[in-house]
Amino acid sequence: MSKINTRYNALINHESGKSYDISKPQSFCTEDHEPLIAQYDMSQPLNKGILQGRPHTMWRYREMLPLWDDQYIISLGEGFTPVMSMEKLKAKYNFKQLTLKEEGGNPTGSFKARGLGMAVSKANELGIKEFSIPTAGNAGSALSAYCAKGSLKANIFMPKATPKMFQLDCQIMGASVNVVEGNISDSAAAMRAANTDGKWWDVTTLKEPFRLEGKKTMGYEIAEQLNWKLPDVIIYPTGGGTGLIGIWKAFKELKELGWIDELPTRMVAVQTTGCDPIVQAFEAGLHSSTPYEHPAETIANGLRVPHAFGHKLILKTLYESGGCALAVSEDDMKSALSEYATEEGHFLSPEGAAVWHAAKRLKEENWIKHDDHVLLLNTGSGYKYAENLW
Ligand SMILES: Cc1ncc(COP(=O)(O)O)c(C=O)c1O
Repeated sequence: MSKINTRYNALINHESGKSYDISKPQSFCTEDHEPLIAQYDMSQPLNKGILQGRPHTMWRYREMLPLWDDQYIISLGEGFTPVMSMEKLKAKYNFKQLTLKEEGGNPTGSFKARGLGMAVSKANELGIKEFSIPTAGNAGSALSAYCAKGSLKANIFMPKATPKMFQLDCQIMGASVNVVEGNISDSAAAMRAANTDGKWWDVTTLKEPFRLEGKKTMGYEIAEQLNWKLPDVIIYPTGGGTGLIGIWKAFKELKELGWIDELPTRMVAVQTTGCDPIVQAFEAGLHSSTPYEHPAETIANGLRVPHAFGHKLILKTLYESGGCALAVSEDDMKSALSEYATEEGHFLSPEGAAVWHAAKRLKEENWIKHDDHVLLLNTGSGYKYAENLW
């Protein structure tokens, strides 16, 4: 790729606005434990014609990504996943426009490639060599792959209940894998205990600012692939929430750039009935969530997140966009997964199946209207989850 200047110019605490030095590695605001958000210089116009002829990867939005120098990009071809029409299910459930963005075709089989491709590339630019992460599976696979490609080192901490395929995936790419009893918060605690001297760069969701910048490219792509006319509803499976927050950040940036005229999208967060801290906070009208005490095991490993570090940002996105949050049971996820496979010929991740079930329920409740364009996110391939589904 030719050299293109980024407009990245600041990192701020999203609540206090406190600014951080962008020439050094920064994690999160240590004063009040809030995520840091990358900002871009919007003072000069940027014409969307610049996209013409650029490669179909997430790096095509280069000006709005935080790397200074292209030589540090570690890429496996992530991004520009298809938006597919769900013809049969659309007719069956009487939706006017129903589409699904299929993230399973990304490197290592999930949307996590975007966030970790970006975070590892930016850390690479800042001279970081060794990383660590607590993961429900997909993020560990992605970190392992980008570290392998960049000759860097990955330390993975995953719950024992994670399907074995994820463990194998990380090991085969040369990562050091630690399997931990309990849920992802227990894995995070084990990681921190092993990293008291800070030898590893911790890329836990939103505890560094750049996974969010990679995930936001889903929003840029949705806009571009729909010819700059956004859907009315986006339904997203929410664990740590980076994708949901990222898509919304992208839409607001696109509006500021003048690449879209309107921002009609209501953002919907989907969780499981056994672990739904965001749903509970949303239903109570709160702006923060409380850690979920006993998160139940689920076939959708990525949704077993008892406390999202970005909980306030998730809830802010839901309120700002006029969206909502709902929880789906294990049985409903399983039958949605089978229905989608038999009707549309596609093996969704359990997280994606939760989204499909949520779409039907919101339509039934008339929260989604017939005329709405509804876009679902299938965040990963179903194949790695086989052992959850036998
Ligand atoms: C397939 C899948 N979907 C959704 C999620 C939740 O993603 P987020 O942390 O962006 O909310 C995960 C997280 O592991 C995942 O693997």
